[in-house]
Amino acid sequence: MKKNNKNTTQASLLNKIESREAVIGVIGLGYVGLPLAIHFGHQGFKVIGFDVDKRKIDMLYQGKSYIKHIKMEPVSTKIKEGKLEATVDFSRLGEADCILICVPTPLTDKMEPDLSYVLDTTNSIAGSLRAGQIIVLESTTYPGTTEEMLLPRLEINGMTVGEEFFLAYSPEREDPGNRNYDAANIPKVVGGVTPACLEIASSLYNCITQSVPVSCTRVAEMTKILENTFRSVNIALVNELKVLGHKMGIDVFEVINAAATKPFGYTPFYPGPGLGGHCIPIDPFYLSWKAKEYDFSTRFIQLAGEINVSMPYYVIDRTIEALNQYEKSLKGSKILVLGVAYKKDIDDERESPGYTIMKMLLEKGAIVSYNDPWIPELKQTRKYNFEKKSVPITPELLQGMDAVVIVTDHSAYDYAEIVRHSNLIIDTRNATDKVDGTDGKVFFA
Ligand SMILES: NC(=O)c1ccc[n+]([C@@H]2O[C@H](COP(=O)([O-])OP(=O)(O)OC[C@H]3O[C@@H](n4cnc5c(N)ncnc54)[C@H](O)[C@@H]3O)[C@@H](O)[C@H]2O)c1
Repeated sequence: MKKNNKNTTQASLLNKIESREAVIGVIGLGYVGLPLAIHFGHQGFKVIGFDVDKRKIDMLYQGKSYIKHIKMEPVSTKIKEGKLEATVDFSRLGEADCILICVPTPLTDKMEPDLSYVLDTTNSIAGSLRAGQIIVLESTTYPGTTEEMLLPRLEINGMTVGEEFFLAYSPEREDPGNRNYDAANIPKVVGGVTPACLEIASSLYNCITQSVPVSCTRVAEMTKILENTFRSVNIALVNELKVLGHKMGIDVFEVINAAATKPFGYTPFYPGPGLGGHCIPIDPFYLSWKAKEYDFSTRFIQLAGEINVSMPYYVIDRTIEALNQYEKSLKGSKILVLGVAYKKDIDDERESPGYTIMKMLLEKGAIVSYNDPWIPELKQTRKYNFEKKSVPITPELLQGMDAVVIVTDHSAYDYAEIVRHSNLIIDTRNATDKVDGTDGKVFFA
């Protein structure tokens, strides 16, 4: 009897997925969830997006974007066709056959995993869980989260995983602003709690891209952290070499570009003012935290974290050094920060080193303004409250500054003009490398 029930539930959900009759629920319509909802919509599924932020839901219905690089036209079209809905009403979770969790996973002030968003969401799902639903966690987290934290909460209503409902983990690999790769061509690693969970989750993601099945949820969870730790460690390596390069009079960007001509065994990473974004500065510490349970110290992660966190301090030291050469002190100097987004050509300023740099400049008595074509004003965050608006770049503005600090190398900047009109530039991205007239004026940091 039980076997029969299992087969029917599983087969029926697979059928619905393959025929595109399954309703997809995406929880958390941010940088990850919104593009994912759009991609499932493109593949013919009806999608319901859930978010606690009513302002975002209203903006979607008004055809307004709250994430600049995501075009609103496909969203508006899908809404008009009735293929996409967005709501704050979580009592509708039961309407979805496949529920994808894309909520934030930040760190607490003590650098410990903050799973409160994931757990709140799981509790909401548990309240209306029904037979024939698959839940997939996409938020980045430490190995063990799906089975240790989600599964017990979902099982409280007495249903059996792998038979009546299904649970999987599939890390999100979205790279906002990347024009070559998006949800349609980035393979999805998938781990299921049971073989049936894996089969259903793989078949779901095969509808939008190629799925990569792995043996369990812990492997899928660890895969994501490996990818981001790999980036963090390699960025720390080139950041350290950059600092050494300045002491030795060697341009580390030239070194990296030369090394990158090796056709095998080397992947170029580039130094910068420190790490930013919701992923690289945070995710490795989810693993460090979990490793403590096994009396294990993740030394690469700690060291990379230390080096990357020290980079904004290095930028400040270089700024002081550069001003010194012009017989100026940082205190009282007018400094223009160019770019506060954590990387070029996106509007995401979370964990941006630009914020740390601005904070330190202000603490040291500098008079700070900023420009970022992607971020017109700086809103209050958990850590910062600058209350500043982006100032337009003009020759007069640049000439009136004691120094310009290039934090983010947005493509929209005319670096030749910036060099021409500025008195002094601290360039953390090598953005002025190809520009004439930098001698004595541009300090690389
Ligand atoms: N941004 C990226 O590039 C990226 C890439 C890969 C993985 N990730 C991971 O994906 C997850 C989501 O990241 P993001 O960048 O999309 O975050 P985000 O902040 O852009 O979006 C999260 C959304 O979830 C909503 N939300 C918060 N609590 C909620 C709740 N209880 N119920 C419903 N909605 C809720 C927020 O209002 C927000 O709209 C994180 O775990 C992150 O580490 C992000």
